[in-house]
Amino acid sequence: MGDNKMVMANLLSVIMLMHAIVALSSNVRGLSKNYYMKSCPTAEQIVKNSVNNALQADPTLAAGLIRMLFHDCFIEGCDASILLDSTNDNTAEKDSPGNLSLRGYEIIDDTKQEIENTCPGVVSCADILAMAARDAVFWAGGPFYQIPKGRFDGKRSKIEDTKNLLPPSFNASQLIQAFGQRGFSPKDVVALSGAHTLGVARCSSFKARLITLDSSVDSSFANTLSKTCSAGDNAEQPLDATRNDFDNAYFNALQMKSGVLFSDQALFNSPVTRNLVNGYALNQTKFFFDFQKAMRKMSKLNVKNSSQGEVRKHCRCLN
Ligand SMILES: *[C@@H]1O[C@H](CO)[C@@H](O)[C@H](O)[C@H]1NC(C)=O
Ligand SMILES: *[C@@H]1O[C@H](CO)[C@@H](O)[C@H](O)[C@H]1NC(C)=O
Ligand SMILES: *[C@@H]1O[C@H](CO)[C@@H](O)[C@H](O)[C@H]1NC(C)=O
Ligand SMILES: *[C@@H]1O[C@H](CO)[C@@H](O)[C@H](O)[C@H]1NC(C)=O
Repeated sequence: MGDNKMVMANLLSVIMLMHAIVALSSNVRGLSKNYYMKSCPTAEQIVKNSVNNALQADPTLAAGLIRMLFHDCFIEGCDASILLDSTNDNTAEKDSPGNLSLRGYEIIDDTKQEIENTCPGVVSCADILAMAARDAVFWAGGPFYQIPKGRFDGKRSKIEDTKNLLPPSFNASQLIQAFGQRGFSPKDVVALSGAHTLGVARCSSFKARLITLDSSVDSSFANTLSKTCSAGDNAEQPLDATRNDFDNAYFNALQMKSGVLFSDQALFNSPVTRNLVNGYALNQTKFFFDFQKAMRKMSKLNVKNSSQGEVRKHCRCLN
């Protein structure tokens, strides 16, 4: 009797150990390309169709989706914390002043709804956002790249965390340091900054350059910026000449001292990053290659596993 109990106990502990090993190895592997192959094989297709439809109606939302992924991943990891709405007792990340140019929340909501209709409770908002940003890059003419899935949605979203967002006043060494702390190389920094091939900046984020007469701005381009700002702080200036096309025009603009943000122009001013800017301005293929590599790295920042997060039913609130 006692021996049988011992055998049972041993067997149980062996089984528990095996479970632990399986859990450990899937934790080490974490994300995978085929994560939804069995549980929601149409997830990628649903995201792609939904993003394409939305961008057809409003191409300017491509920049919004890419920026949203960056804001999500840089704060608290790629865990859809940026998507949570504020509640009575919590002010969320999205209500920080730094959120102003974030647009496209409705695309994520609609996509989530469609996916829930097909495979409820399976696909995380964090994965949807990572896929949507990827599809936006491609839709606008940029590179296509695979991203692994399996992120869980986080439970924390606090306005105070957004102080870790990078201000447009940063110079190259500050950018390199801030990204370096998260495992990015200077090359990654320059490639990722190329996301500014899409979208606009508001006057409030570059008007300081006009006041200090920043010598890194071409003088006729400074006039253009001043003209934009004459319409107020919220007036928008395209970040390059082709604001809805994913191309390397942004890097050409930096070479001509026509970067809109100080932090963008700083990458051309610094001897550490200037050659990278020149390389991308000369060779768009090179930019696309390094960009997709850096984006895949970005989309894996501090992802949460099943015990650290959940699969939200609605992207704007916790389950
Ligand atoms: C999730 O990650 C945390 C921190 O690395 C770890 O302690 C926990 O065991 C992991 N949970 C699962 C289910 O893998
Ligand atoms: C962004 O934050 C401001 C407060 O700084 C808030 O009024 C606004 O609603 C937020 N925008 C979005 C899209 O959440
Ligand atoms: C970048 O800014 C920091 C902080 O203001 C300053 O200490 C540093 O000298 C600047 N670096 C360059 C290359 O301008
Ligand atoms: C452009 O970059 C790609 C990728 O790095 C490289 O294979 C190609 O040879 C480059 N083309 C030119 C003209 O330098």
